[in-house]
Amino acid sequence: MMTTLTVIKADVGSIGGHVAPSRNLLDTISRHVARGMDDLISDFYVAHTGDDIAILMVHDKGVGHEEIHRLAWEAFKAGTATAQEQGLYGAGQDLLVDSFSGNVKGAGPAVAEMEFQPRANEPFLMFLADKTEPGAYNLPLYLAFADPMNTGGLLLSPEITKGFRFRVMDVSYTHGDRVIELATPEDLYNLAALLRDNDRFVVESIFSRHDGEQAAAVSTTRLHNIAGKYTGKDDPVMLVRVQKNFPATGEILAPYAIAHYVGGFMRGSHVGPLMPVKHGTGCSYFDGPPIVSGWGFCVKNGRLTEPVDLFDHPFWDAVRSRAADKAMEMRRQGFSGPAMLPYSELEYGGIVRILEKLEPRFTIRAAKKEAKETELVPA
Ligand code: F6R
Ligand code: MG
Ligand code: MG
Repeated sequence: MMTTLTVIKADVGSIGGHVAPSRNLLDTISRHVARGMDDLISDFYVAHTGDDIAILMVHDKGVGHEEIHRLAWEAFKAGTATAQEQGLYGAGQDLLVDSFSGNVKGAGPAVAEMEFQPRANEPFLMFLADKTEPGAYNLPLYLAFADPMNTGGLLLSPEITKGFRFRVMDVSYTHGDRVIELATPEDLYNLAALLRDNDRFVVESIFSRHDGEQAAAVSTTRLHNIAGKYTGKDDPVMLVRVQKNFPATGEILAPYAIAHYVGGFMRGSHVGPLMPVKHGTGCSYFDGPPIVSGWGFCVKNGRLTEPVDLFDHPFWDAVRSRAADKAMEMRRQGFSGPAMLPYSELEYGGIVRILEKLEPRFTIRAAKKEAKETELVPA
């Protein structure tokens, strides 16, 4: 029997600023999703990272199924009512349309889904990130699925030496889904050329070239493309199947030891290191730093095991402390250069207005004497 995993996440309110949702809010959402256990879903799990709540659902309805999406949408609506009652900050913030029209894609919440024929044992990982953008997963996915310096399995395991097929989306294109497929190892440099630009090119999914099976699904929502203006960072979710014909769990996790710099720190407008954190971690320093949390599950006959916390291990304490150093180092330079995102990615239009106001105050000094023609000819 085919199984579908659907994770849908939204920020519908949090305590103390953009820090963490309330217990009440999480309970409301869990209670609402539980109603789907009668006839729609076979299991679910509600988690949060920073100010975002994710609903993981197991079912057999396939990807993009209206009733599954409606269940999550209505749970977030119910959560919004609780957030309003409690006076939480940003109540309902990621629900960008008034009424549900069949799919949460393009309506604000982030979604990642995969349908597959489960193996005899089916381990998979769920990642939730806050204060960052979908492209934050580009580098970890590139390293885990395409680089033998990270993933020894690319040399050692016959199932994965054939490489992977990456589907990459141009998220700046707003008239539809503009995608390209690249196969590694042949397209390695082409892939790197796209994935260096986290704001624009985002890995949407990855497939095994051994058996065509889907390995990963990433949410690619750009909230400012939907709302026409910035309404919060996109805080992406991701599902990854692991082991055997896919990289091992440890190979998927290893790149997070870099704590690479990503966009989304403070007001969605700064650059900070992606810190791997334990479950239930909120945000703090400079409304960040950008965080990622990891959940390991197995799924069988439509039921989930309890999760394991992938970043709850002494090893990651050392990484967290390095990430804190990297965050403070970048913060020392304030607004300067790479510390702040380019105009197109800034959360607020304030800088553009400042520049517009300054425009008439610029003067152009007397033009230099025209260079003689001979001086323009190269020697
Ligand atoms: C992402 C996040 C930030 C906020 C940003 C806006 O989870 O929380 O990107 O959207 O800090 O803050 P306000 O709402 O105060 O403008
Ligand atoms: Mg937020
Ligand atoms: Mg968030």
